[in-house]
Amino acid sequence: MRLAVREVSYAFGDRVALDEVSLDVTPGVLTGLLGPNGAGKTTLMRVLLGVLRPARGEVLLDGRPVGDEDRRRWGYMPQERGLYPGMPVGDQVIHFGRLHGLSRPDATRRARALLEELELADRWSDRTDKLSGGMQQRLQLATSLVHEPQVIVLDEPFSGLDPVAVASLSTTLRQRARTGCTLLFSSHQLDLVQDLCEEIVMVDHGRTVLQGEVAQLRAATGQRQLRLHLRTRDRAWLHGFPAVRVIADEADDLRLDLPTGVEPLEVLDAARAAGPVIDFGLELPTLSQLFLAAALPTHERAGAG
Ligand SMILES: Nc1ncnc2c1ncn2[C@@H]1O[C@H](COP(=O)(O)OP(=O)(O)OP(=O)(O)O)[C@@H](O)[C@H]1O
Ligand SMILES: [Mg+2]
Repeated sequence: MRLAVREVSYAFGDRVALDEVSLDVTPGVLTGLLGPNGAGKTTLMRVLLGVLRPARGEVLLDGRPVGDEDRRRWGYMPQERGLYPGMPVGDQVIHFGRLHGLSRPDATRRARALLEELELADRWSDRTDKLSGGMQQRLQLATSLVHEPQVIVLDEPFSGLDPVAVASLSTTLRQRARTGCTLLFSSHQLDLVQDLCEEIVMVDHGRTVLQGEVAQLRAATGQRQLRLHLRTRDRAWLHGFPAVRVIADEADDLRLDLPTGVEPLEVLDAARAAGPVIDFGLELPTLSQLFLAAALPTHERAGAG
């Protein structure tokens, strides 16, 4: 099912939280709603879920206005978690499955499979409040996926997770997208999710600042960065490349912006002639660098009043 937000605006009193934001989520395409704290991500998700009614704009599912009946079938993980602290882990997931109309045997079977997948199976009988923060987060995710929803909306599913849990959640989300689910998740950790998202919508101060396919957006700048880990402080060799800009030079790590026409291997050879190169890589700009470049005009506008 194709999910679309069309020019949605929302304000809390005179604080504008969303200003004509539009986005599309295509089934099977993992889509990230990205932006800094206060950008409007949670507000947009609440509009999607019908918790907030937008002043202007609409939310469409396969081209029709979305109704409460549609939304009841969705899987939603809110940013503020809502679990019963005293309830055992397994019962918690079964309970949410039953709320979505599953029979007890079905809910139990799916709860077991999901907790296995999210590496919580050994906590089945533990009270929820005995879990660590990251574990409770994975449990919350399990409660929103237990009814195998076709539309999945997750608010900050990665915050508070360790690197192993991030990798395992990424696998879970990719797998849901591969089976054709419509999947939107938000994150303020742009670089953490840049390899996971296929499409992104970046918001800042309630406005869309950048949107499209991640690989395309990163390549479109024409910027390539050469990262060098050197064992020398000698930088005189750089004078041979007047068009190359130094982005960062900290400790032994040098990061260079290579404009088109500059051959990365020639720069690498010059560096190697000056001293040992321990590590190197040719990289595209990160999503946070794209955000900073794209958001600057918005901040200037905000500053100008
Ligand atoms: N209940 C509320 N009452 C008044 N203002 C609100 C309310 N909820 C959010 N806001 C304001 O709306 C703006 C957007 O907030 P929102 O929670 O959507 O941001 P966010 O992108 O989800 O941020 P975060 O990364 O911190 O979760 C902020 O300026 C915030 O102060
Ligand atoms: Mg939020």
